[in-house]
Amino acid sequence: MALPYPDDPLLAGGFEPIRMECDYADLVVEGEAPADLAGALYRVGPNPQFAPRGTYNPLQGDGMIHAFRIGGRRVAYRNRWVRTRQWALEREAGRALFSTSDPRDHDPAVAGVASQGAANTHIVSHAGRLLALEEGHAPIEIDPQTLETLGPFDFAGTLPGNMTAHPKVDPETGKMVFFANFPTRDFDGALLLHVADAAGALVRTVKIAGPYPALVHDFAITRRHVVFIVCPLTLSLTRLRAGAPPIAWEPDLGVRVGVMPRSGSAADVRWFPAPACMVWHVLNAHDDDGRILVDLCQQDAPAFPPPRRTPRAGDRPATAPDPLDHRSGR
Ligand SMILES: [Fe+2]
Repeated sequence: MALPYPDDPLLAGGFEPIRMECDYADLVVEGEAPADLAGALYRVGPNPQFAPRGTYNPLQGDGMIHAFRIGGRRVAYRNRWVRTRQWALEREAGRALFSTSDPRDHDPAVAGVASQGAANTHIVSHAGRLLALEEGHAPIEIDPQTLETLGPFDFAGTLPGNMTAHPKVDPETGKMVFFANFPTRDFDGALLLHVADAAGALVRTVKIAGPYPALVHDFAITRRHVVFIVCPLTLSLTRLRAGAPPIAWEPDLGVRVGVMPRSGSAADVRWFPAPACMVWHVLNAHDDDGRILVDLCQQDAPAFPPPRRTPRAGDRPATAPDPLDHRSGR
């Protein structure tokens, strides 16, 4: 018997979970759908299958895909959860087993079970594949028609681990450019830049030494450049091992903007200092007569601070949790 969701603004209003999967062949349209508008619109977001264990952190809510298929003045709708390992285990149990905010609150039945992430952050179509993304893990491939989960996708074994949830598809070449933060879990600030060709094969990987270990969520490309905006929301294993939240805001470090020619190597990256601010998302970027212009969302400091885990009696320095997993204390 599924329990009711708790009274939580992150589970109410526009965030209220949908507990069903359904198909509508012909949605009611207010006004008139343009006759020449045809295609599919996909979106994904957190939609927890069951009432959460403890504090709800939407960054780890189960991803649900919503597909709107438009054509012939009609709009069809379909929604499906992404069948992650977590989703399947909880479906079988009929309740939440994984805490979305603190691994210490996991049900003992799933102790040591590796997460595949929640696949809840973004969804992208490239080379005929539909990929549900969450930055700490590899993509999960989805059937574009049925929304069936096909499973983790690693570019035929060539993607070493995770990838950003915000890859960029070059409209001229069809290439997908993306990166991985903390790709080897060394937490030394290194970034991997990847390029997949228009056919979906991973054709280029460059390891870039970042200025410091930080949460880099998005980036920009232009026709000729790759731009990283590294902001001082830092991640420290030292803090984690001391039992403190691993993620902290360190404005004294300032921002570092990294610029690399698309055809260049790691040695070609130039880092430019800038005053401290927080940038989660980039809108667009382009080259402009020797300059690079980037449109982005800038905050003075993180406006959505990661939830901090509450110290508890008997806490010991943490060794096992993966700091990149959003359940590890963000
Ligand atoms: Fe994002």
